[in-house]
Amino acid sequence: MAHYPDVSRSRELYNRAGDLIPGWTQLISRRADQFANGVSPIYAQRAAGSRFIDVDENEYIDWVNAVGAIILGHADEVVDGAVKEQIDRGSLYTLNSPLEIELAEELCNTIPSAQMVRYTKGGGEACSVAARIARGTTGRDKILICGYHGWHDWYQAANFGVDPESGEYPFAGIEPIGVPKALAGTVIPFTYGDLALLETLLTEHAGEIAAIMMEPARSELPPTGYLEGVKALAEAHQVILIFDEVSCGWRQAIGGIQSIAGVIPDMTVLAKAMSNGYPMGAVVGSQAVMEPAARMFISSSYWSDNIGLVASLTTIRELKRRDSERRLAGIGEKLRAGINSALASAGLAGRCAGISANPYVALDLPNGVDSRKVSTLFIQEMARRGVHTYMSFKATLAHSDADIAQTTAAASEAFTIIKAGLEQENLDSLLVADVRKEPFRRQVR
Ligand SMILES: Cc1ncc(COP(=O)(O)O)c(C=O)c1O
Repeated sequence: MAHYPDVSRSRELYNRAGDLIPGWTQLISRRADQFANGVSPIYAQRAAGSRFIDVDENEYIDWVNAVGAIILGHADEVVDGAVKEQIDRGSLYTLNSPLEIELAEELCNTIPSAQMVRYTKGGGEACSVAARIARGTTGRDKILICGYHGWHDWYQAANFGVDPESGEYPFAGIEPIGVPKALAGTVIPFTYGDLALLETLLTEHAGEIAAIMMEPARSELPPTGYLEGVKALAEAHQVILIFDEVSCGWRQAIGGIQSIAGVIPDMTVLAKAMSNGYPMGAVVGSQAVMEPAARMFISSSYWSDNIGLVASLTTIRELKRRDSERRLAGIGEKLRAGINSALASAGLAGRCAGISANPYVALDLPNGVDSRKVSTLFIQEMARRGVHTYMSFKATLAHSDADIAQTTAAASEAFTIIKAGLEQENLDSLLVADVRKEPFRRQVR
């Protein structure tokens, strides 16, 4: 049986971080309590292709891939080569960079909703820009949202609304501490898939809503007709429709979920995989919606940085050149099939489902079993076998058949341990790690 990896250097660094960095990390999903704390690695020192090496010199297959920011694989030679060449020519000019135009043209040729483009350095920031443009273009303040759209005030204001029945925030796990209470009521969440609720909200707040911002999909394709219904409602109420494709973009299709669904929003927010690990974000949209942004104060020094621009341009071209849609579909399919046979061989009830770009494991647990304990045990046993993952998987073009074979072999053993723990009702004694915290409730699965 595999030993638990020594992660003592990771843990020592994490303790030091606790004294220096409030909340330990810069992204909540990177906190140790999101994994199997005590067994999972916390700090990395190198990454290449489908793998990384932690600070204790353990090697892992990576299925988290910087929460989806990596799509070609870590340290991709072509993207990094273009970035290194650009560094030698200057990372940030005093003047504007022609790359801004070149990337805008590439985006307009790639994303169905793109006619005009603005840039940022990340996804949440790009969502903020989209919200500003929508409010500025319509002269209205309220925004209906469905999904995760970042840390900024405009969006976090949605969490002032507490459900009177459950007493819960719409996004359990996030409290709107530090968000101006004056923003309460300006952003209203709606449930994915519920067109009737969306229509009710649009009618209740008629004439006040600037935009509907939503994740069109995450790990499942949208139900037939749903996005069409959302678009029809947006048009009927003259509200701007914004798809946040920060997480779902580029993977299932290079043109985004909109290119699969055939539903073209007024604006789209892009980030993460568009630049394979270099800071970048973009808001694209129709000329009618985007053009008024010229008069709005939307401005930042680093949004013209050449590194993100060249990384994006190269990543998008490489996705096309390497036939990423077909290859990622194949990798996802193989992984799903492998995990499903691992479940079957362990005799554990559940399935690996979801789109090939983002398959996930759903277990049918007996009543009363704490699913967090089971997911911690899965992550713990996968880490023990050199696989870094959540209960879901983000594939890259660098994942090989050997990576999939190692992952499914590890999963088979992890599922066997979980099955025994459930039967003997001794999950606690199998857990070496702390039980993980759920990050926050997501509206779009
Ligand atoms: C759909 C979506 N929008 C926005 C964001 C925020 O992006 P960033 O973390 O780059 O600010 C995320 C990040 O997970 C996301 O998944």
